Amino acid sequence: MNSIPEEFQINEFIEQKKYLINGELKTWSGNTTEVFSTISSTEDYKPTVLGSIPDMGEPEAMAALDAAMGAYGRGQGVWPTMHVKDRIECMENFVGQMEAKRDKIVKLLMWEIGKSLPDSQKEFDRTVEYIYDTIEEYKELDRNSAKFQKHDGVYAHIKRGPLGVVLCLGPYNYPLNETFALLIPAIIMGNTTIFKPAKHGVLLITPLLEAFQSSFPKGVVNILFGRGRAVAAPIMQTGKVDVLALIGNSKSANALQEQHPKSNRLRLVLGLEAKNPAIILPDADLDLTIDECIAGTLSFNGQRCTALKVIYVHEDIKTEFLKRYSKKVDDLKFGNPWDNGVKLTPLPEPSKPAYIQELIDDAVAKGAKIKNKKGGEHFDNYIWPAVLYPVTKDMRVYQEEQFGPIVPVLSFSDIEEPLNDMAESNYGQQVSLFGKDVYTLSPLIDTLVNLVCRVNLNSSCQRGPDVYPFTGRKDSAQATLSVHDALRSFSIRTFVAFKDNELNNETIQQLLEAKLSNFVSTDYIL
Ligand code: G3H
Repeated sequence: MNSIPEEFQINEFIEQKKYLINGELKTWSGNTTEVFSTISSTEDYKPTVLGSIPDMGEPEAMAALDAAMGAYGRGQGVWPTMHVKDRIECMENFVGQMEAKRDKIVKLLMWEIGKSLPDSQKEFDRTVEYIYDTIEEYKELDRNSAKFQKHDGVYAHIKRGPLGVVLCLGPYNYPLNETFALLIPAIIMGNTTIFKPAKHGVLLITPLLEAFQSSFPKGVVNILFGRGRAVAAPIMQTGKVDVLALIGNSKSANALQEQHPKSNRLRLVLGLEAKNPAIILPDADLDLTIDECIAGTLSFNGQRCTALKVIYVHEDIKTEFLKRYSKKVDDLKFGNPWDNGVKLTPLPEPSKPAYIQELIDDAVAKGAKIKNKKGGEHFDNYIWPAVLYPVTKDMRVYQEEQFGPIVPVLSFSDIEEPLNDMAESNYGQQVSLFGKDVYTLSPLIDTLVNLVCRVNLNSSCQRGPDVYPFTGRKDSAQATLSVHDALRSFSIRTFVAFKDNELNNETIQQLLEAKLSNFVSTDYIL
């Protein structure tokens, strides 16, 4: 293994004992769980122990829930009733403190989840930008509602209000960005929150605990550590959670929402799994298609919900595509996250290489071949991406969301074949469509937009830019996330109405002049 640059070496054991409840950074004295990295610090391979985190349970979960409920105060709390401009100020304070932690967080992203240095930096910077964009968008939303409308003799002052207590759970592949894409809009809209970091990418949250504590009133953000089953399940069982915000898989989302005794009260904001296909038509520009498919299938080793997880290539070009694509896969550079030009990096889940091997074995036993020379080669913490062809529907790699380095390829002669598969699929997030002829593309686009929520033309699937809607059909999502949509997903329209008469008009006039109400306000926030 290469020697590790000094600035990225792990020199201390991070004993994370602090957790945030009701504005207090408490010290944990119970059981802890060690946090490992699958990256070795020594010449002979050995996982690196990075630190430890509290292994919390029901009592702490209940304390966090009480704190969040207290801060919401049945709608009377300081936070939900605060003037928008003051909430924005708290968020500005938070993001300012967060920016100072960039190096620490980027380093932990690399060690905890094996994300490359440029991608880890991008995850951090994109999140900071997301927060600033959210602030601007909220100002705009507020400005647009700083008015009264009148219909049928009734005036209305309509705004968006918070929903209550939000339980926030993020995924390990974007432990900062995706978690914050839920948490930040939830907080800024006046909700109070309980947040538990993902199973990997936990320590990188700890440099932000103080920023959360000092930026928001007590109880607005509560941060717990431990297993979802031990911490999130008891919270849901109380029926006191108003919003379950989760990016992860539908199994955990379903298990959690089923714990809630009154499902009608629970709003869901979910970003779930997907099996996004690439469809390559016979006239596709192969150079561009191959580059986009490499990025789509293997960025961050395929551990993205938006990754291309199955490729459909037209019979006429399949041989050429497979040859060139497989060669490019084998040319990718594997190494540690800080290595220059690295594209494939260690897998954070120790069991992932064995799982990918199972998918390969199953596919090969059912007739698929590994098309690239290095496909399936094992390393201490990695398995080289195998390009499998021909893949059939009875194979596990076709049915399961692999979330790792393996690429199933099918060929087709009739476009109805991939379209039927997509219609039958449990997922409906995005598709990549490669081709040039507009007469072929047009009817396809018109169909595909109804099967998924984003059709990427001659481009790989992706979530960004974050101002665009991120959602999905079927088991892939519930509600929509984007800078703009997330503010809507975490709030509800609520308003003050009054009949047009002298008494009401005078009262409202006085209300506005006195500037006593934080809700009834026509102030423009610049
Ligand atoms: O895991 C799913 C992410 O939302 C993917 O985001 O397309 O920007 O990598 P990305």
